[in-house]
Amino acid sequence: MTKAEETPLIGRGADVALLSRALDDAGKGSGRTVFVVGEGGIGKTRLAAAIAERARKKGWTVVSGRAYPVETGVPYAVFSDALLPLLRTMEPSHLSVLTRGGAPEFAQMFPNLSSGSEKSRQSTGADPAELKARLLWNFTQFLGRLSAKQPLLILLENLQWADASSLELLHFVARQIESQRLFLLGTYNDADRDSNAVLRNTEQSLTRLGALTVHKLAPLSHSDVEELVGQMFGAPKGATGHFTSLLYGWTRGNPFFVEETLKSLIESHALSRADSRWTGWEIDKLQLPASIRDVLKARVERLSPNARNLVNLAAVVGTRAPYETLLKVSGLSEKDAIAALDELLSQRILEETGTVDAIRYDFTHPLLQQVIYSDLGQARARLLHGTVAESLESLYGDDAVAHADELALHFARAHSSQLARKTVLYCHAAGRAALEKYANREAANYLAIALETLDRDSSIQDAPGDEILTTLARTRQRLGEYNAAIELWERARAAAAKRGERGAIADVEHRMGLACYWSGRHADALAHYEAGLAAAEAASAETVVRLRLAKGIALQDLGKLQEAQSEVEAALVSAAAGGVENEALLSRAHRALLLMYAWTGPLALAGDHGRQALAHAQAAGQRMLEWTAHWGLALLTGVSGDAPAVARHLAESDRLADAMQSPLLPLWSAEVAVQYRMVIGEWDTALAIGERTIAAAQSLNQRMLLPRLYVWTGLIYLWRGSTQKAKEYFDLAWKLAGGEKTGSLNGADARPLDIPSIVPAHLGLASYHLALGNPVEAVRIGEAGLEIADGSGYIVWSLQWLLPVVGEAALVARDFDRAARHCARMRVDAERLGHRMGLAFADACDGLLAWFRDGDPQRAIPLLRSGAEQLESLPFPPQAARVRRRLAGALLEVGQPEEGRRELKKAHDVLAKLGAADELTGTREEMRERGVRPPPKTVTPGAAGLTGREIEIARMVATRKSNKEIGGALQISARTVSTHLSNIFMKLSVTSRGELADFVRQNGLLDT
Ligand SMILES: Nc1ncnc2c1ncn2[C@@H]1O[C@H](COP(=O)(O)OP(=O)(O)O)[C@@H](O)[C@H]1O
Ligand SMILES: [Mg+2]
Repeated sequence: MTKAEETPLIGRGADVALLSRALDDAGKGSGRTVFVVGEGGIGKTRLAAAIAERARKKGWTVVSGRAYPVETGVPYAVFSDALLPLLRTMEPSHLSVLTRGGAPEFAQMFPNLSSGSEKSRQSTGADPAELKARLLWNFTQFLGRLSAKQPLLILLENLQWADASSLELLHFVARQIESQRLFLLGTYNDADRDSNAVLRNTEQSLTRLGALTVHKLAPLSHSDVEELVGQMFGAPKGATGHFTSLLYGWTRGNPFFVEETLKSLIESHALSRADSRWTGWEIDKLQLPASIRDVLKARVERLSPNARNLVNLAAVVGTRAPYETLLKVSGLSEKDAIAALDELLSQRILEETGTVDAIRYDFTHPLLQQVIYSDLGQARARLLHGTVAESLESLYGDDAVAHADELALHFARAHSSQLARKTVLYCHAAGRAALEKYANREAANYLAIALETLDRDSSIQDAPGDEILTTLARTRQRLGEYNAAIELWERARAAAAKRGERGAIADVEHRMGLACYWSGRHADALAHYEAGLAAAEAASAETVVRLRLAKGIALQDLGKLQEAQSEVEAALVSAAAGGVENEALLSRAHRALLLMYAWTGPLALAGDHGRQALAHAQAAGQRMLEWTAHWGLALLTGVSGDAPAVARHLAESDRLADAMQSPLLPLWSAEVAVQYRMVIGEWDTALAIGERTIAAAQSLNQRMLLPRLYVWTGLIYLWRGSTQKAKEYFDLAWKLAGGEKTGSLNGADARPLDIPSIVPAHLGLASYHLALGNPVEAVRIGEAGLEIADGSGYIVWSLQWLLPVVGEAALVARDFDRAARHCARMRVDAERLGHRMGLAFADACDGLLAWFRDGDPQRAIPLLRSGAEQLESLPFPPQAARVRRRLAGALLEVGQPEEGRRELKKAHDVLAKLGAADELTGTREEMRERGVRPPPKTVTPGAAGLTGREIEIARMVATRKSNKEIGGALQISARTVSTHLSNIFMKLSVTSRGELADFVRQNGLLDT
């Protein structure tokens, strides 16, 4: 009989074609992810191997990794399996180029890669979630660089057993490879899919995002099976007719079942060879076993005792095992072990894999391992796990802790009280190692086993039970399993109380408070912080500072900014009194005050705290803290209208984010940058940053940031006249910020409103209604936003953004009392806080009141002029131009046509440069009415300010080509085409393909 893998691939033409297409797409730079799924033995591995072969022939790099049922707990096991062999062949210098210096983080993910010497991590002060994002991001970037040279196929097999971290990584990578030459090919047995919840979620999420194709593999057909039998026995098709019909019916077209049944029939001599011909095809002689399980069992039962013994142990080891491991666990002499292995290889139960110097043994098919393992029965399996555990431990010797993952699993599965102490030891070590890789889920599993084992067995004396308990609690907290965490903290608190350690109680209360806070139970959080503070009196000043800081932040989120401030101020006082020299902690306290005073004023005080936050961060040597200080200062200087300072702090935060290789931090500073560019009138740049950041925030799931990004970007669209696009963004912001839930601000139990999102969401919609001529609606929405902002102490927010819009809307609606009220408030607050923008707006608003309400344009003129000039000096040119336009109106009205026209012209030039649609049109109309001919709208003839590529695309749109067709013609993805298109729309101020086509024709772009 021919060996299975030597027979040609049968009946998979359509599947190969489909996967080859995906491969070719990926090769052209639109990365793809495909899962091939189906029952065990249906041919997933075989098909994947055919695709891998094809890729290799086309010059791809191919790596493949495999998951094993015992490995579900080992973080990044599948990816390590796939990539380690490749990484190991790379020169360290080359690797360091590809990882852009991120080699230490790689070593964290793939500990077997390095000797362990380069593990030292710089202290960045980032939180675990940020560090994890960084790890995933850097890995993705690495793949991008690697595949830029040569396209890369990563084959990941048996994902039903994949560890949570690998699946998380897969999910992350699959979303980022759209323009990379990368093909991720996964396989899994769908009968087992639902036992792996992470796999199910990963698949659902990626499918929803359109980032994954799931391809189900069908059984072979009757004639395929006939061909398979023919190929294996060298018999012509048809010669075995009845037999194959029977076989097909029994195996339902599963090629593995076909092969194993045939092997079994041969071994039992039902099929035999005489004179180079196979006989026994007659149906009546054929005794088919009851199930495939029986077929496999029968094959194992026919093995020699040593081979059976060894294969049982191999099934317990569960992964691809090195020779030394099998030798050690079997307890056989070398000679006997080799003989047994030879037998297993020749029976095609095991196969050799790996390199010459590191030969490993694996089952030829995972079903064999599963059947053998389950056939052991529980008692024997436990016993053998114990044997394997102890043999491996002695094999690894001094290095055993480095293999904690593997040892933990076997010791735990041994369920033996003699081995309980070691179960705790290795589970604890494996849990800690997992935490180092931010593999929280795996860590929690290990630690939970350690804790259960300790709870069950009170005789274990020397284990660090308290540490395990608190580490597990912290891990559950990180996973967002707050109730489970709180339960564990309660145990920890009771233990601390029993020992009479008040300092420890204070720490636990702090953690419990955080768990409540993160699950939205702010009132409970405050209660825990207070209990912690009560217990902390005797404890260290540092704990007191931490608790007060946490309490302050909870109060801020509850919309009690004033109380929050005094709490954090008090924290600083106790820090000073207690001689606390924890620079990081001090930096955090000052940062909190920076951000609080930035919203309530006085702005100068906020600035002081910002500088101190920065100084302490530098002293602590934590770049992350330094980054937040700069970010906060950028925000603050933006509010206080100090453009050069904003630019400086943004540049600093970009530099730091870059040094930390952080994917998330640049998004936060980009949000400030969009606002800043919008204000200073660099709208093209603002839009470009806005769009880019929105896309990145979506793909990195930054929901906190998105509402604001939508509002800022939407405002520019609105002012540019793309009202529909603006509305779309404002609605998205409203939805994400939970606009419907307005009113729960003071609800005791409800999660409080996210003020930094919900207030901007109000701003967006109010601005929209004002621009569309519904001032009454604009007032309504704007005032609702004001109420939220003021109610929670975010006064600067009101002053900076909401009051100008509400005030203007009230004026337009001729609701003068209201307008006067808002205007007066604007002046009072602005003076109190030293808010320059507020003062400018107050002047403008008073000017308009004098004119519209009092009918006194003369009095309006100096006020409007002052407003415009102040806005210009900030600079805030877009608003300045709008005020100038009003100033011109007043001048014209009082009979100063020369000056009026001059002001109109000034306003016009700024608005034209900005591309401020309606405002510009209005200004031009006014100019015409006043007998001034507006300058021509400047569009560079021919090019129209478009790049060469944009002109190419615009032409194709005019010839009615779809994005896909255009992408095909230009060798870029449809998505890239659509990005170009939105830039083109923006540059030309067109809103549809039809309009663009008109533009192309009218401007003669088609025939150049
Ligand atoms: N289309 C095919 N033509 C020939 N042999 C096949 C085909 N598909 C699978 N086989 C054989 O069947 C066995 C099981 O296939 P495999 O790919 O390992 O299944 P799976 O990965 O789905 O569990 C292997 O020995 C394989 O070579
Ligand atoms: Mg397989």
